[in-house]
Amino acid sequence: MGILTDDMKRALSEQRLIFAATVCPDGTPNLSPKGTVMVWDDDHVLFTDLASPGTMRNLQHNPSIEINTLDIFARKGYRFKGSVVVHKNDDLMAAVQERMRNGPSNVTGLADSVRAVVLIRVEQAQSLVSPGYWGGATEAETRSNWETYWANVNADWRDRNENA
Ligand SMILES: Cc1cc2nc3c(=O)[nH]c(=O)nc-3n(C[C@H](O)[C@H](O)[C@H](O)COP(=O)(O)O)c2cc1C
Repeated sequence: MGILTDDMKRALSEQRLIFAATVCPDGTPNLSPKGTVMVWDDDHVLFTDLASPGTMRNLQHNPSIEINTLDIFARKGYRFKGSVVVHKNDDLMAAVQERMRNGPSNVTGLADSVRAVVLIRVEQAQSLVSPGYWGGATEAETRSNWETYWANVNADWRDRNENA
């Protein structure tokens, strides 16, 4: 059995977005979003390099990475630490591109833009739960509150943009 539980795999697949932290050569942090996240197997998660020069440069110097994913309605998620192997123009990259072509709508059109695959071997996994739960809120209440919040944000966006 690998390190990734079924719920971790569900969270990663459902959210379709991670934030990936790498270490710059000068020791400063680098954090950027990656929407091409894919669970590869019980120990590996990957994303593809489409437009990530900073992340890719950093990984050449230091293969350490931390990623996290968060459900903005449940205010729960996971964080994972690991080390990466970059795959370029090999069988694994071709297989990932094929999965993208048949995959979720946010990645189907991006398969041909893949420059490399960043395959993360997950070495540590930890759950994330908002301190908003400390007062005893249930997940159903939390989801409902944040659904309302985001519905209002979207309504404000429509007000600002639809007649612009
Ligand atoms: C929602 C979202 C998803 C993204 N997904 C990816 C991705 O999967 N791969 C990628 O290379 N860039 C992706 N990007 C673009 C990079 O995050 C962006 O170019 C960033 O500045 C790269 O920073 P870096 O070079 O420090 O990694 C995404 C951007 C956003 C806003």
